[in-house]
Amino acid sequence: MIYLDQAATTFPKPASVIKEYNRCIKEYCGNPGRSQHRLSFMASEAIYSARENVADFFNFPSPENVVFTMNATYALNIAIKGLLRNGDHVIISDIEHNSVLRPVTALIQERNISFSVFKVGEDLYESIPPLIRKNTKMIIASHVSNVFGDITDIKAISDIAGKHGLLFMLDASQSAGHIPIDLLKTPVDVLCAPGHKGLLGIQGCGFAIFKSKDALSTIIEGGSGSDSMNPSMPDLLPERLEAGTLPTPAIVSLSTGIDFLRSAGIENVQKKIEKLSERINASLRDNSKIILYNNNNSGVISFNIKNMDPSFVASELDGMGICVRSGLHCSPLAHKKYGTSEKGTVRVSVGFLNEEKDADMLEKALYKLTR
Ligand code: ALA
Repeated sequence: MIYLDQAATTFPKPASVIKEYNRCIKEYCGNPGRSQHRLSFMASEAIYSARENVADFFNFPSPENVVFTMNATYALNIAIKGLLRNGDHVIISDIEHNSVLRPVTALIQERNISFSVFKVGEDLYESIPPLIRKNTKMIIASHVSNVFGDITDIKAISDIAGKHGLLFMLDASQSAGHIPIDLLKTPVDVLCAPGHKGLLGIQGCGFAIFKSKDALSTIIEGGSGSDSMNPSMPDLLPERLEAGTLPTPAIVSLSTGIDFLRSAGIENVQKKIEKLSERINASLRDNSKIILYNNNNSGVISFNIKNMDPSFVASELDGMGICVRSGLHCSPLAHKKYGTSEKGTVRVSVGFLNEEKDADMLEKALYKLTR
């Protein structure tokens, strides 16, 4: 089997991740921060060390501002709904996933929020400032499109947000673990990411890193293992936003995935992904029956075979042992941008554990399908 659906979730996971996950559930999976016994203490320590690891990986000084969640969608929701107030205006990009578009849209009714859209690929220093209004609170941007791989100029957004006193929320779902992100060099107010994609953890956790310690409003309340007589959530991060039991095995796996990336070297990971992407892009470009939409090497590639339904192409590839994703990929805005809203595209996505032979097998399979 050739797995080229790394943008949905990475597979396989490194052996070290599987090993530590197994060790966690066998040896130290108490409920973190709840009970007075060794298994609970061990789980708490593992989670604190994961917070430190995540903070360090993104060069962020305060591990307690790393909030663990169920996934990236949940992280984006707690940040968007926790920070936006009645009447605020938001600027989002034209490649946002439904995990941003839907919570923002829900707030149109609920809190009279309005939003404008900027185009990734334009000079953002020119195109974003005219969209800023008196009530603009925040810019939200996906770092890498989950469909077409477009890369957003986050340095420009960070500069603009800083200059105009706006918050900058970054959805790093497709870039975390594939592109180096340094929060000291490129300040971001909230970074949200999943653990199970480029960071190589298992499914079940994501996180948000908040620059500020200010208490934002909560969208879910419950046990925090501290301040229990208080009927409201504690003010302090991370407890304020982590109601209920955390997924210790998933968090441990994410932290071990980060260790794996650190030993591989994030620059090497990025180079390998770029090289594999270029190889796939070149073979798709060479096939006259294929429409290739990308002009980047970020690891996320979308194409269509002329006169073939993308879901048919994905099923045929699956029949030949190649896993890809087709359709709209939960990103209506990105498909609108590329004029592919009707049926979507076939998406191939690569990760650090793919090899050149995977790209070559894809090329052969597509040759068979199009000849
Ligand atoms: N957001 C994930 C994807 O793009 C699931 O496939």
